[in-house]
Amino acid sequence: MKEKLRSQGWFGKTGKDGFIYRAWMKNQGIPDYEFRGKPVIGICNTWSELTPCNAHFRELAESVKRGISEAGGFPVEFPVMSLGETLIKPTAMLYRNLASMDVEESIRANPMDGVVLLCGCDKTTPSLVMGACSVNIPTLVVSGGPMLTGKYQGRDISTSDVWRFNDAVRSGEMSQEQLTVAEECMCRSQGHCAVMGTASTMACMVESLGLSLPGNAAIPAADSRRKVLAQMSGIRIVEMVKENLRLTDILTREAFENAIITNAAIGGSTNFIIHLLAIAGRIGVDLKLDDFDKLSASIPFIANLQPSGKYFMEDLYYAGGLPAVMKELDQVLHQNAITVNGKPIKENYEVAECYNRDVVASLKEPFNPFSGVAILKGNLSENGAVIKPSAASPHLLKHSGKALVFDDIDDYKNRIDLPELEVDESNILVLKNVGPIGYPGMPEVGNMALPKKLLAKGISDMVRISDGRMSGTGFGTVILHASPEAALGGNFAVIETGDIIHLDVAKRSLILEVSDSELEKRKKNWKPVHKKYDRGYVKLYQEHVQQASHGADLDFLTGSSGSEVSRDSH
Ligand code: FES
Repeated sequence: MKEKLRSQGWFGKTGKDGFIYRAWMKNQGIPDYEFRGKPVIGICNTWSELTPCNAHFRELAESVKRGISEAGGFPVEFPVMSLGETLIKPTAMLYRNLASMDVEESIRANPMDGVVLLCGCDKTTPSLVMGACSVNIPTLVVSGGPMLTGKYQGRDISTSDVWRFNDAVRSGEMSQEQLTVAEECMCRSQGHCAVMGTASTMACMVESLGLSLPGNAAIPAADSRRKVLAQMSGIRIVEMVKENLRLTDILTREAFENAIITNAAIGGSTNFIIHLLAIAGRIGVDLKLDDFDKLSASIPFIANLQPSGKYFMEDLYYAGGLPAVMKELDQVLHQNAITVNGKPIKENYEVAECYNRDVVASLKEPFNPFSGVAILKGNLSENGAVIKPSAASPHLLKHSGKALVFDDIDDYKNRIDLPELEVDESNILVLKNVGPIGYPGMPEVGNMALPKKLLAKGISDMVRISDGRMSGTGFGTVILHASPEAALGGNFAVIETGDIIHLDVAKRSLILEVSDSELEKRKKNWKPVHKKYDRGYVKLYQEHVQQASHGADLDFLTGSSGSEVSRDSH
């Protein structure tokens, strides 16, 4: 052990304070020897029946506990706010920063020497990692794992099919009854969404950052090997405490670059950008929006997974998992970045084998030469906007069209299916006021459904632009995260129906064909239309949330306060 255990600042005390710290814990039947210098390991659990993707976490925590005890540690499981993507209104993203505060304060305030973060559904990973970064004790992530692939009428399905089913029902190709059957076929096991949506992207993010044991990202939740990994993680966190291996040792600039490169190769979610920027802000690594474009521009798409490709997370695991993908990227990765098992990341992936080239391609013969994310610049969004070229229609990557503007989500819902709506497939749909402040919370509505009358014509994609986000399971030629958002009154706020917009992804440009003088004139007459909240967390959020280009963290949460607690209360 390199240093005195932090937990001994509680349990190692004599007199009244030590008595109080230990006596109440003993009501759980814990023997005295557990308090005498064993590393105390927190298991930060996002279990909740309202977060179905994490509903198996109490069982998973038991495996982690077994490992901790086996290695001579003392496990203590604790709950934190859990964010279930499918149920939380208005959007789970509104609460990511709140959950991160819960995690940060829970870790710091309690006698923990190390912590295992149990993460699954989309926001539970970034919120836990962000909170842990602001404390910086030895930390290891165990993901919950993806669901088994859904099966419907003899074919494989998962979350990306929700969008296809929705279009099919709206165009009359699918009945409501068939939709109900599909509903029962999709989520047929424990775990999170089975495609390379945001949850899988986050699981790959933590593995490529070096925050989990190798193989963590893809083992299905229902596979017994997930529990083995959890137990091994329990063993490892105790060793990490003894080595004093902290997040700042792992989360270097190189680790962030590895995560960006890997995310490009797997066609990961655009939400990756927002969450990684926020994590970098907490740990003090200078990461910029442009880094995502620079680092991923030359990385092809080599993991054939939906929504950009064909297969599912289960297939990725059987094909060799994320280590098989990273092995292909060997020459472009920082091979010496240290990971939670104390080894350079290369040692973790170099032993991997690829068992299915239809799922994991070689770098020389990728599934698509374009991948990753492109950062678009121009006068339409002065701080940049994001597009995922691998999920877009190739013929729309260069496109000019007239804007059809919706002032907010209600305006969109009220008008999109009106028979008299003047729209054709050359139009560019623009949705305002779905940004962090405007909605508030930046929901995943950027891949807005197309007008019914165009779906009936067989149109399946159009250029769409918003200041919101898109589900990691979504697809289409969708430009997201326009910043500054409409609620702040920049150029995006004053686009009008009929304005010409030019998109050229190869040139990374997004241009609004309106003169500067006209834009200035419009801005003088502009008034915010979004609702301002006057109490509670949402007020705090609206007053302090940063723009998407900076990770949408609250400004006062950037950085770390360390793990010190200077005062006892007794
Ligand atoms: Fe939880 Fe998709 S809804 S991961």
